[in-house]
Amino acid sequence: MNSNSNIKPPTKLGVLGSGSGSNMQAIMDAIDSGDLNAEIVLTLSDNPDAYILERATKAGITAQVIDCGGFRTKFPDEKQALVARQLKDAGVELVCLAGFMRLVKQPLLDIFPQKILNIHPSLLPEYPGLMAWKQAVEDGATESGCTVHYVDAGMDTGPIIRQAKVPVILGDTAQTLHTRIQEQEHTLYPNVIKEIIGC
Ligand code: GRF
Repeated sequence: MNSNSNIKPPTKLGVLGSGSGSNMQAIMDAIDSGDLNAEIVLTLSDNPDAYILERATKAGITAQVIDCGGFRTKFPDEKQALVARQLKDAGVELVCLAGFMRLVKQPLLDIFPQKILNIHPSLLPEYPGLMAWKQAVEDGATESGCTVHYVDAGMDTGPIIRQAKVPVILGDTAQTLHTRIQEQEHTLYPNVIKEIIGC
């Protein structure tokens, strides 16, 4: 037995996002700093203009577009099956949704049981769905935050893994609150992935 035999190979991650990809960047930074024993092997986006694709390409990660025939269209079963195949072919062990704007269903859920995570910008079960930070400000909430949870077939309904709280401060706009929440997201998400993959 050589001295390297106990070193676990990096866990292969697949990231799905529709926007800027700052959460994927936080995961990449945790990997680069040696804090997270993982490797992003595939980034997929339903939005061909999403900056997350550029971030991935710049980092040498394979980046592909899921063509759903336009923004805010359905995520058809056959596309979900195609995505599942792409992830499997890339050897993905854990799927991380990072600002992915479509509902993941079958067969993806069956193919990656308890292996799909999402980060949501609220203290779920409060404010599921779109622009949770805006919902919180408009509702007069005094506390908000972010949640990492397993993905099930509902909208932001899967089992909660961990949350981080932030205060809502007098005078907050949707934007200032989202910025505060995102600061927490960028620590929470890599930490939860680390916990799950056990390194
Ligand atoms: C994050 O606030 C995340 O919680 C939500 O969408 C946003 C994505 O931001 N699901 P980014 O693309 O990771 O910068």
